[in-house]
Amino acid sequence: MDPNASGLAMRLAEAGQSHLLQFWNKLSPKEQAELTLDLQGMDFKEINGFFQKAMESSSSSKQEKMDSRMEPVPREVLGSVTRDRESLKDWELKGLHCISQSKVAVLLLAGGQGTRLGVSYPKGMYDVGLPSHKTLFQIQAERILKLQQLAEQKHKIKCCIPWYIMTSGRTMESTKEYFSRNNYFGLEKNNIIFFQQGMLPAMDYDGKIILENTGKLSMAPDGNGGLYRALRNQGIMEDMEQRGVEFIHVYCVDNILVKVADPSFIGFCVNKAADCGAKVVEKNNPTEAVGVVCKVDGHYQVVEYSEITLATAEKRSTDGRLMFNAGNVANHFFSFAFLKDIVQKYEPQLQHHVAQKKIPYVNAEGQLIKPDKPNGIKMEKFVFDIFQFAKTFVVYEVLREDEFSPLKNADSQDAKDTPTTARHALMSLHHRWVLNAGGHFIDENGRHVPAIPSLKDGTDLPIKCEISPLVSYGGEGLEALVKGREFHQNVMIDEKGVHELVKNGV
Ligand code: UTP
Repeated sequence: MDPNASGLAMRLAEAGQSHLLQFWNKLSPKEQAELTLDLQGMDFKEINGFFQKAMESSSSSKQEKMDSRMEPVPREVLGSVTRDRESLKDWELKGLHCISQSKVAVLLLAGGQGTRLGVSYPKGMYDVGLPSHKTLFQIQAERILKLQQLAEQKHKIKCCIPWYIMTSGRTMESTKEYFSRNNYFGLEKNNIIFFQQGMLPAMDYDGKIILENTGKLSMAPDGNGGLYRALRNQGIMEDMEQRGVEFIHVYCVDNILVKVADPSFIGFCVNKAADCGAKVVEKNNPTEAVGVVCKVDGHYQVVEYSEITLATAEKRSTDGRLMFNAGNVANHFFSFAFLKDIVQKYEPQLQHHVAQKKIPYVNAEGQLIKPDKPNGIKMEKFVFDIFQFAKTFVVYEVLREDEFSPLKNADSQDAKDTPTTARHALMSLHHRWVLNAGGHFIDENGRHVPAIPSLKDGTDLPIKCEISPLVSYGGEGLEALVKGREFHQNVMIDEKGVHELVKNGV
């Protein structure tokens, strides 16, 4: 137990981290045991190496803008739901066929801390206030279930879409418990595989690990690119191999519109024999702070807005669109073979990025200080860091209003990407599905409500329409329910039928 006797004090001294034991004599035996356990599990040499490399590459990338090395995505690797309409059906059929053969898995990145949203539980358990009060996890689970059914009906064969869910130390238990309490939302328990990503300590600018209290290190998940190390450490590639998974759709928990295992995207990537694909939405405002997918020195990568000059961000092609307009939405396709290569060969080459943060710490007197400006760094890898290793990379452009509305921040006056914007995005998509299937909405005077209702600031949507994923995955199959019918302004469609909800009663 004594850190001197166990050799722990020596290891810390060699790594320049002896300060972690500065409050040792003031800790209770239980706290001493917990701190010892945490410290014994850490490889300080490796952590110090990560810190050095991350700081070096962050200072060199700050100095140099990318502009002269960048090229936009060439048309031949681009598929677009608006520009390639004639191919969409083929791609969808291809994807659905792969799903029916149980070759497609989905992988959810749900290890983040959701600091901006500010809830104490995993973000996937958040209810954005839909009439059904379904959470993000439930919506995604039901989409998987529906897609399995669609593939089974089409190909008359039983299939499954395994769902790999990456959590972190902080979210694992509550996530598992939530799924179990809800009977896995109708999915087979064995086809949902939880695994845990790694954590790294927060460090000050001198590379000293920060203590968040006298006996505890400040730890954070190692970024969504921690995925690759976690896949290796937790034996997930072996599980995929045993199940015969050939294609993997990776996505983030916070996008309420995500088309989980989107057959068109999968089919497009498979038809192109791609090893790696990225779904993007058009960036239409030069100053929007979104990373763009492009080529740098001949290799694909995501370039952040801060890494280019305004002049480059504003460049336009002859068709009037921004030249660098492939906005990354963290929605990726990997072939199994590619992912295996990444996990086995390339992962160690990925470097951590530096995120400067305000990190609460204890001072020499043992008092907790909450800094008001950044005082240290967290180290993170990003899921898209591996694009550079792809041999056949493709890009798939979809409509933002159909597929991308992330939940990042709590509701407040000027905030973007909030529960309200997510709820509106989903209900407005479902409203459009009803219109496309031949239904109409009428106001209290019996007049048709315009297809694109105008929203006054601060008002809620004039039409509240929610369609259960168990009824429709992507707008299909609604004609029989809505064609030629007139609905008042609040409608819910679920497995039991079409329900008109009492106005303001949702
Ligand atoms: P964000 O970078 O938006 O982080 O994650 P976040 O945790 O949701 O929110 P903030 O920044 O703390 O407010 C984008 C996606 O990547 C996942 C998140 O769960 C989310 O799906 N992620 C992020 C991980 O899986 N692991 C991480 O270490 C970080």
